[in-house]
Amino acid sequence: MPVLAVNVDHVATLRQARMGIEPEPVTAAHLAELAGAHGIIVHLREDRRHIQDRDVRLLRECLQSRLNLEMAATEEMRDIALDVKPDSVCLVPEKRQELTTEGGLAVAGRVDEIKEYLAPIWEAGILSSLFIDPEPDQIDAATSIGTQYIELHTGAYADAPRGEKQDAELERLIEGIGHARAAGLKVNLGHGLNYRNVLAFQDVPGVSEYSIGHAIISRAIFTGMAEAVGEMARIVEGFAD
Ligand code: PXP
Repeated sequence: MPVLAVNVDHVATLRQARMGIEPEPVTAAHLAELAGAHGIIVHLREDRRHIQDRDVRLLRECLQSRLNLEMAATEEMRDIALDVKPDSVCLVPEKRQELTTEGGLAVAGRVDEIKEYLAPIWEAGILSSLFIDPEPDQIDAATSIGTQYIELHTGAYADAPRGEKQDAELERLIEGIGHARAAGLKVNLGHGLNYRNVLAFQDVPGVSEYSIGHAIISRAIFTGMAEAVGEMARIVEGFAD
């Protein structure tokens, strides 16, 4: 059964708007777990614009589900991951000026470099995922690297105007999922998914986890975390296996 992992970065975005102590992302994570999230995701960015180091540490101590740390492939982040020991890390590209992660990580042509970067992480018993575009050469490189998971970037699909363009992006993702599964990779999906556009995947098998943040936190402002997470969890758990 596909499961939901909830990204709580934007609870921290709101807190950082006042540099204060509320709202607390750890509380949001607990409520998400109670409402059916199978994992919690945070992106510790180099510029610390939302999630802070203490959030990652507190979540590691308190969570009962899985903690997935999204991070750039830098020495600093690897040291933090080896210290905090999340259940998994997801390597993402990061640019300081971007509003959010824009494209997938370029792994094609960087197999040895990324393998070497991940080796201490694997040795510490932490699983890895690579956030990549649904391109055959990126998926093949991820397979050669030996990562357990990939997360296919759904942003191009989510941002495309409805109609032909969006259908083409959906097709690219479906082919990517099939390609990756045939190569033995576990596949997660994420970025820009919401209560409507996620429904396109209901008959698409082979997805382990849906990684969703902004749409859930946006809805939670009006309905509360429990309802917002519960509804999304029920949606994705009803999808094809
Ligand atoms: N997956 C990755 C790798 C991301 O960088 C993000 C955004 O932080 C998400 C999933 C969640 O995207 P959204 O907040 O649009 O649901």
